[in-house]
Amino acid sequence: MRSTPAFRCADCGHRAPKWLGRCPECGAWNTLAEETAAPSGRRAPAVEREAIPFDEIDPQASPRLRTGISEFDRALGGGVVPGSLVLVGGDPGIGKSTLMLQVASALAGKPAPVLYVSGEESDAQVRQRGDRLAVRSAGLLFLPETRLETILSAADRARPTALVVDSIQTLSCDDLPSAPGSLSQVREAAARLLTHAKGTGLPIFAVGHVTKDGAIAGPRALEHIVDVVLYLEGERHHSHRILRAVKNRFGPTSEIGIFEMTGAGLSPVADPSRLFLGDEVTRGPGSAVLASVEGSRPLLVEIQALVGDPGISSGRRVSLGIDAGRVALLVAVLERHCGRSLAGRDLFVNVAGGFELDDPASDLATLAAIASSMEGIPLPPRLAVFGEVGLTGEVRTVGRAAERLQEAARLGFARAVVPAGNAPAAPGGLALSPVRTLAEAIAAMFPTHLPVIPAQPGIQSGDRIQRRPGPRLPPG
Ligand code: TYD
Ligand code: MG
Repeated sequence: MRSTPAFRCADCGHRAPKWLGRCPECGAWNTLAEETAAPSGRRAPAVEREAIPFDEIDPQASPRLRTGISEFDRALGGGVVPGSLVLVGGDPGIGKSTLMLQVASALAGKPAPVLYVSGEESDAQVRQRGDRLAVRSAGLLFLPETRLETILSAADRARPTALVVDSIQTLSCDDLPSAPGSLSQVREAAARLLTHAKGTGLPIFAVGHVTKDGAIAGPRALEHIVDVVLYLEGERHHSHRILRAVKNRFGPTSEIGIFEMTGAGLSPVADPSRLFLGDEVTRGPGSAVLASVEGSRPLLVEIQALVGDPGISSGRRVSLGIDAGRVALLVAVLERHCGRSLAGRDLFVNVAGGFELDDPASDLATLAAIASSMEGIPLPPRLAVFGEVGLTGEVRTVGRAAERLQEAARLGFARAVVPAGNAPAAPGGLALSPVRTLAEAIAAMFPTHLPVIPAQPGIQSGDRIQRRPGPRLPPG
């Protein structure tokens, strides 16, 4: 029986039944080649293993390796698991190489050396960074190399505690014709690193740049291959960096590590709420404090909103650090259930400090910030807010309320507006306003100024108690 030949694009991996000059998927020219047998790295290792009784498995068999860099260990779920392949992704210049050199140094000598491979920088450049970071260089081996086979055989000889490869986009495997950084090279390199890690028990960290054009051959294309995916996030102009686990075969995702970029590298942040909250004194209309939980840790962050004046708008809706679709949904709820219209008004929402929120309980605080900006009235001082808001205007109970409230109390907050279902969780020193609906929440946050209009279409805003004269907007 004759099997039909298959052709595969060396850039995007697209398969075609016949040869084509141009890949129909990615548009690259002359990249289709007839598929040969799977390259060696993909083949299953030839070790024959017997099945073992489930009861006899030792759950402690591979203890995690801790770096001692607290926030890095936290993001990994308590340290790195031997034999795992960890992808550290992020924008160019965000600090991946810095972090990995610190990690390499921290693991060096525990007990063996750490092999740090760079395909991007010369030995002198890496050495200069190391001096700046004051890394312990004892037990740190450096190899400037991009050929995967050379790297793996160097690792075999050095038998290191860990291997760092910076970056996976520079690697090339001998038997692949495509260029380094192309999807097929990057995938193959990741698959071979994984095989090596599993076969030897060596933990491997691979740096991956997020590419500008939507992550072809970037870390996203590798997420399904590797064991753990960490993204280093942050803004170039802010000093803090968040290391976020988006995939972890051995631990929780959504865990984050928080660092500050200093003159001597990334340093773990001990009290992140203080970092993200900024100065209470400067908080005006359009600012609300969210008692959030990120990963295993409560965190207070400030959400800011700016609602433009009516009539002079281009209808712009911009949100930073919070999902734009979520904001649009919340605005629709506010319009329907509180009778406030944002039609024809610009809206900007921002999470202060460049933080990226990933917490459904941020809804209520987002709406509080928007309402506060619309009315030009600041929220009461020392007020924290959390709660999920549903499409019918209900405020839904969220998880981990006690921790959110404890963190707010610890930072000197006096009152919190919370979902009614979360109210029993109050710690001492914090007054609670339990609310069941968005309307109740608005009433609790703006006790005298902001009237609430029931959620029926056509109702006139005659019951509006308005201190500031403002334009009358039709409800809904
Ligand atoms: P780098 O680790 O090279 O980024 P990446 O590998 O993700 O491309 O770090 C780049 C930035 O970090 C650079 O702008 C300089 C800054 N930096 C510090 O602020 N402090 C330091 O100690 C180091 C080493 C770098
Ligand atoms: Mg780098």
